[in-house]
Amino acid sequence: MKLSIIYVSSLATTEAWSHTCLKMVNDNNVKNQNKRRDMLRSFGSVVLTSIAAPIVSNAYQLPDLPYPYEALEPYIDTPTMKLHHDKHHATYVANINKATEGKPAMSLVDLQTNALEAGPGVRNNGGGHYNHAFFWSEMTSADKASKTKASSKLSSLIDKSFGSMDDFKAKFQAQAAPGAVFGSGWVWLAYKGDKLHIVGTPNQDNPLMKGVASEIMYPILGLDVWEHAYYLKYQNRRPEYVSAFWNVVNWDKVSENLDYVIQNNAAVPVPE
Ligand SMILES: [Fe+2]
Repeated sequence: MKLSIIYVSSLATTEAWSHTCLKMVNDNNVKNQNKRRDMLRSFGSVVLTSIAAPIVSNAYQLPDLPYPYEALEPYIDTPTMKLHHDKHHATYVANINKATEGKPAMSLVDLQTNALEAGPGVRNNGGGHYNHAFFWSEMTSADKASKTKASSKLSSLIDKSFGSMDDFKAKFQAQAAPGAVFGSGWVWLAYKGDKLHIVGTPNQDNPLMKGVASEIMYPILGLDVWEHAYYLKYQNRRPEYVSAFWNVVNWDKVSENLDYVIQNNAAVPVPE
């Protein structure tokens, strides 16, 4: 748990930066985090109309996994989950806080848009934080995952975009193969223009970043194909890891993600 301190200008002059101090306790609860983001946006819109946006230190935090480390066994192993979440994801969070220290507050989603222009500190670490937070949220134990299913809307869009669910999975797996995403990267199922698209991105890029894909798209499913995501269990057998991934996909959540991006014409928020 951390404290975030936000200083908000109360007057429309630069000299007035001796101001209101708002302390908010963030308990890694998504609901509270969403409230915090809404407040930031609200403050941002108010203050921007006068002189400046709020400044935030340690704006981003490592969210808890929404399930135990061992929940995705045997498809994604416990040691991998511990290292992946506690070390790799945590490092992205620490580094994006360094990269954005003293800069205007911005939601993690909004941070993605101009990440390429912002430079490698924001691009790699802001992307790493968003991507991993998104990734954890779309998975669940195999037992629970087997009871989820794509909504009728999602199923019809998959059929429209790829032919069938089986065709989609085959194309997604082909994009996740080492020959398609060489080295480290991600594969996404993203929505744009009343269609779904499969997008491969290098490093910690994602389709929300302007300039990464042909246009900004909204992810509804993502797969981490960095070696740190699978090497302890699968070594060099990335295709085996990709095939196993389907066993832990929460299709109810993916369907919710689709509903969100359609209804809001915006990216799915993540715990940040
Ligand atoms: Fe990762």
